Amino acid sequence: MEANFTINGIEFKITPSTISIETTLNDFIRKHAKLTGTKFMCLEGGCGACIVMLKGVHPVTKQNTSWAVKNSCLQNIYSCHGLDIITVEGIGSKKDGMHKIQKRLADFNGTQCGFCTPGMVMNMFH
Ligand code: FES
Repeated sequence: MEANFTINGIEFKITPSTISIETTLNDFIRKHAKLTGTKFMCLEGGCGACIVMLKGVHPVTKQNTSWAVKNSCLQNIYSCHGLDIITVEGIGSKKDGMHKIQKRLADFNGTQCGFCTPGMVMNMFH
């Protein structure tokens, strides 16, 4: 068993000898891809702090599609085979220029502590 996917355009190839089969998408993004913009809090699919976007071919319609993953904390990384994963770093940053959703939230103080803001941005981005 192996899985190939991209995160923000960077290719990853994993096998159980290198990445545990119990690894979640959130764990992989944060610990292995070193992208800590995607947060976690409840780790049970309830808060939305860990939302990312996936792009790929729909298994039934066979059309290219994208969807927000509301619980990357629960989704297994091996289920992402063949998909393109987009995190909050992939849509914009201070360094490369913020996406209009990020800029609008920042300009209008649309956050409180900001911890769950990346999840809100990715949900609106989709
Ligand atoms: S950490 Fe709360 S839904 Fe994933």
